Amino acid sequence: MQTVFSGIQPSGTLTLGNYLGALKHFSSMQDDYSCYFCIVDQHAITVPQDRLKLRENIRSLAALYIASGIDPKKSTLFIQSEVPAHAQLGWMMQCVSYIGELERMTQFKDKSSGKDGVSASLLTYPPLMAADILLYQTSLVPVGEDQKQHLELTRNLAERFNQKYGEVFTVPDVQIPKVGARIMSLNDPTKKMSKSNPQPKSYISLLDEPKTIEKKIKSAVTDSDGTIRFDSKEKPAVSNLLSIFSLCTDETIETIEARYVHSGYGPFKADLAQAVIDTLSPIQERYYELIQSSELDEILDRGAEKATSSASKTLKKAENAMGLGRKKR
Ligand code: TYM
Repeated sequence: MQTVFSGIQPSGTLTLGNYLGALKHFSSMQDDYSCYFCIVDQHAITVPQDRLKLRENIRSLAALYIASGIDPKKSTLFIQSEVPAHAQLGWMMQCVSYIGELERMTQFKDKSSGKDGVSASLLTYPPLMAADILLYQTSLVPVGEDQKQHLELTRNLAERFNQKYGEVFTVPDVQIPKVGARIMSLNDPTKKMSKSNPQPKSYISLLDEPKTIEKKIKSAVTDSDGTIRFDSKEKPAVSNLLSIFSLCTDETIETIEARYVHSGYGPFKADLAQAVIDTLSPIQERYYELIQSSELDEILDRGAEKATSSASKTLKKAENAMGLGRKKR
């Protein structure tokens, strides 16, 4: 069975963008692949975090993974920092990375430009992400579009390592959804929906209450043309809302366009809000049950054990290939 790996940062409550671009697709892969889903807390500390808030976010993310369909009996769910092989291989992957290629990463440029006191880890984050993936001999990595460049780098690093030191890593493929790979902000369709945006109106959180969802969708920007059709160049805001609608109802964009052909933005937005509420309500219900229970800790303990056991095999191989320490068997 081939392996799937993906990770999400516990850096705030997840948005509808995280769900539609990534999380929603994970649960359907569990029967066909051996799946590893990770709470990448070591990535989250590349920017300052409040330690108590980070702890809370880690737990909350674990509960959200399960609430949105990850079955711990089928998949391995674990916290990155509880499997030391990630940091160990991360360092080794830094040693095969070039500063120039890391400086070219768009996310690094966006997060560092014009800022003082940029941490070195913002630059060296992609080799750690490569290590996350390569440790499990991963074949497929489901992510949203913003991670595509990091995945290309991961492939390059894996190939470079294999060429220099011998075939140690599987070179992974990326899987990006056709619709929803980049859900945009509700108040600015040129920016992606992001949990780090200081304006809560720009995103829907997975834990937003129905009233809040209605308000946010009602105030989402549209355009003055008044028609509901998909045209990402001319009508980026409406197209974004159509993508969200389609992903929440599993209807095609054409079906939705046809339904609202004689209708204005008002009724369209009211139905969209309902579709989002119907998608998130069952997730929220399960989330609030889980977050109170000790079940979550047991799942994460088992996940860390299982992940450690597979990761250490690859780590040993990579250390042997590079000549680190004494030869291990
Ligand atoms: P993160 O935590 O920023 O996002 C988690 C996942 O959500 C997707 N995503 C989106 N998809 C569509 N529209 C959006 N507006 C949107 N915002 C976020 C992301 O593409 C991602 O799939 N570096 C990664 C975490 C990571 C990882 C990994 C992922 C660390 N190691 C190994 C895969 C494999 C990140 O910061 O994702």
